[in-house]
Amino acid sequence: MNSIIINEVPYPLDLIPPHTTLLRFLRDHIFLTGTKEGCAEGDCGACSAVVLEQSDEGSRFKAINACLVPIHSLGGHQVWTVEGLSTRNELHPVQSAMVKHLGSQCGYCTPGIVMSLMEAYYRKDIKEPWQIDDQLCGNLCRCTGYRPIRTAAESIVNTNPQDAFTSRQAEVSQTIDHTVDGQRFLAPVTWTELWTGLANNPNATLVCGATDLGLDITKKHAQYECIVALDRIPDLKTITVDEHQIRIGAAATISDIESTLQDTLPALTRMYRYFGSRQIKNRASMGGNLCTASPIGDSAPVLLAYDSIIELRSAQGTRTVPISSFFKGYRQIDIQDGEILSAIVIPRPTSNWHIRAFKVSKRREMDISAVSAGMAVQIVDGKIQNIRLAFGGMAATPKRAHRTEDALNGQSWSMESIQAALHFLKDDFTPMNDHRGSAWYRSQLAQNLLVGFYEELQSQNGPHLALSHTGTLLLEQR
Ligand code: FES
Ligand code: FES
Repeated sequence: MNSIIINEVPYPLDLIPPHTTLLRFLRDHIFLTGTKEGCAEGDCGACSAVVLEQSDEGSRFKAINACLVPIHSLGGHQVWTVEGLSTRNELHPVQSAMVKHLGSQCGYCTPGIVMSLMEAYYRKDIKEPWQIDDQLCGNLCRCTGYRPIRTAAESIVNTNPQDAFTSRQAEVSQTIDHTVDGQRFLAPVTWTELWTGLANNPNATLVCGATDLGLDITKKHAQYECIVALDRIPDLKTITVDEHQIRIGAAATISDIESTLQDTLPALTRMYRYFGSRQIKNRASMGGNLCTASPIGDSAPVLLAYDSIIELRSAQGTRTVPISSFFKGYRQIDIQDGEILSAIVIPRPTSNWHIRAFKVSKRREMDISAVSAGMAVQIVDGKIQNIRLAFGGMAATPKRAHRTEDALNGQSWSMESIQAALHFLKDDFTPMNDHRGSAWYRSQLAQNLLVGFYEELQSQNGPHLALSHTGTLLLEQR
């Protein structure tokens, strides 16, 4: 039987159509209306729920946006909502903290906030205050002001809880193959199941965390004949690091990449800090972010700076392409019928490479880039041996600034060289005008980011430099 366990109660899913989100199931099918709907697009956190999943470190709780997740993606797994937090009529410690610190007024956001706090309560990796900001940045509150909520959060992190929740073990992921009214949801756990499923459903829509596809379902009421979810195949979730390279399975989530590669790839994890909310990062994958092929996706510029390799796999075998030739045109990528993006391979930079990432958006949290950049320079004896300058938001695809790179290669690493090369950026890109920024603004930003890259490397031991939304250089607190 196809089922899900919610607040320790199993619910059959056999009659539930594949396009049903967790939120719709909670509110419309089993009437757990404590979980609220605000935006239905992953922005407000009112719908936050918590799923228990397996990891290399054991079982762990992850907050997710119930409004975006197809219910069958969670088939067989344990989920908690606000109704399941208190036990024996006693508030859970995160609920008590919200009461004690006056963290709720109208209460509409409160169920979502306590579920985010539930993840924080059981996390073992919160070491810095900014991690509390990141934990809560996907939960909007229009009444309380965030200070009491933050105080509640500070009071519950790193308390090393031992309770009925900590002894819970995540279920092992099983294959899901479910059809209702001619619509199929397939989540294979083996490569063989995947290739068979794709051969039988050549028009299948591939999905990992559904943070993008979920929007099509909730906002455009999209219907798919067959959805194939890739996030149960263990190899696609694996991140391996050796002395030569880092291999990131395409379905690895952004939050797993952040926590695993914080020290190994700091430019990537810096970009991912501003990628989205904790709930989004707990579901979104690097492969999904690349395959949407958005010109303003946050992964691509920094992966271009790292000169990454894209690994594509099909029933016939595996091929690789450099990321610099992966993006073919607006929303077009080099992927053939029957292929999936299986991994991203990042060569380990040697010590004379310096790599940084920048994102400029109108808000720091939860916003889409106007312009983003990944920049890498190899400096030998004070000269630029190699430089890679990649931008998002400047063209129909994420793209390197080859003319500017050519102008800088072989020059001294100095502000004079940078200033002399800036005008080449105008030859590299013809940015568009849209509501996120005019062509002039984007062009100016690209130049300021290159200057910022130089300035930041010159102040390596000082605070990071970042750009405000107006393109002004700011000190970044971290
Ligand atoms: Fe707003 Fe889900 S309803 S994030
Ligand atoms: Fe009213 Fe947060 S308490 S929206």
